[in-house]
Amino acid sequence: MKILVTGGAGYIGSHTCTVLLENGYDIVVADNLANSSMDAIDGIKKITQKSFPFYKTDLCDEAATEEIFASHKFDCVIHFAGLKAVAESVAKPIMYYENNLISTLNICKCMKKHRVPKIIFSSSAVVYKNDNPMPLTEDSPLGSINAYGWSKFMCEQILRDFAATETDFSVVSLRYFNPVGAHTSGLIGEEPSGIPNNLMPFIAQTARGIHSEIKIFGNDYDTPDGTGIRDYIHVMDLAEGHMNAINFANKNTGFEVFNLGTGRGVSVLEMITTFETVNGLKLPYSIAPRRAGDLPVSYTSPKKAEKILGFKAKRTIEDMCRDTWNFRR
Ligand code: NAD
Ligand code: WQD
Repeated sequence: MKILVTGGAGYIGSHTCTVLLENGYDIVVADNLANSSMDAIDGIKKITQKSFPFYKTDLCDEAATEEIFASHKFDCVIHFAGLKAVAESVAKPIMYYENNLISTLNICKCMKKHRVPKIIFSSSAVVYKNDNPMPLTEDSPLGSINAYGWSKFMCEQILRDFAATETDFSVVSLRYFNPVGAHTSGLIGEEPSGIPNNLMPFIAQTARGIHSEIKIFGNDYDTPDGTGIRDYIHVMDLAEGHMNAINFANKNTGFEVFNLGTGRGVSVLEMITTFETVNGLKLPYSIAPRRAGDLPVSYTSPKKAEKILGFKAKRTIEDMCRDTWNFRR
């Protein structure tokens, strides 16, 4: 099988490329390097000792995207490419809608023209309304409070309608919860540009002395230790989950959604103390006000992915902390 991996130089995409190559898939990567670098591409090649075509391409450029589809006979697309920073999307909504929707529309048009019958789409837990009871399931009501979340919601709607007309196509939307960690080689990992909004890269950068302390956004939530709870999933588990999704797409047509998480909630304080214990270091932190828009608790029921995809995350919080530090260090 030949797979187009859009956003394959990014955090989740690069880790998935290593698993695809190690499972014998041929891949082609297209990425405009807006939030990544060739270091990730080099890392994938070093880890797998395999090479593959790379196109530095903005997928919002329809002609350039068409050129890639005209040059390869793809069996499937894994569409990681997209902007994903919530705060940035609030400040720059049009940029988020343009980038995330136009790229997805171009992919759909090229898939239709070249009869590429499968797509795995990177969606997110942010598509769920923020007043849902936990655990979240694939049937939990949808709705967002920021342009990033709405852009993912809209891309899913585009893909639903696409699947409804291309009835021999398979469209799988994977709603990732909180991916963290890195490949055990330490050659690829999460390299956000600028100051990270997300907890784990901020912890790692603080451990390296880049920041003086971690600010815990609120310890007065209705949770056991008062800090926010999330469903963290190791990025390598997530990468492997894409193999399950491809197998599902090979046997099914139509549109299907799966939550990818562990089903286990972990608090900010638990993550910090685990990172300290696993890596034998001390992390300075202080309590700061709550961050606007944050949920107190968010985690999924992993049942549907387990039952239908045969996917179950197996790596632990300790693995996530160890692998993050191994990469960062
Ligand atoms: P990332 O920013 O590391 O990777 C995304 C990649 O897409 C980057 O390499 C970027 O350069 C590329 N890209 C963006 N716009 C592009 C365009 N127009 N043309 C070509 N390439 C483009 O992000 P990630 O964490 O690897 O996330 C991958 C996908 O998963 C994204 O769609 C994101 O919304 C989604 N997601 C991420 C998380 C998370 O917490 N990391 C959670 C849920 C969903
Ligand atoms: C996790 C917990 C914070 C930073 C985000 C995006 C979502 C998705 C995954 C793309 C929360 C707390 C954080 C810090 C802190 N990405 N925190 N101090 O907000 O669950 O989800 O990433 O789809 O779109 O919203 O992840 O890592 O930002 O926060 O206390 O410096 O850590 O309050 O409880 P979040 P996060």
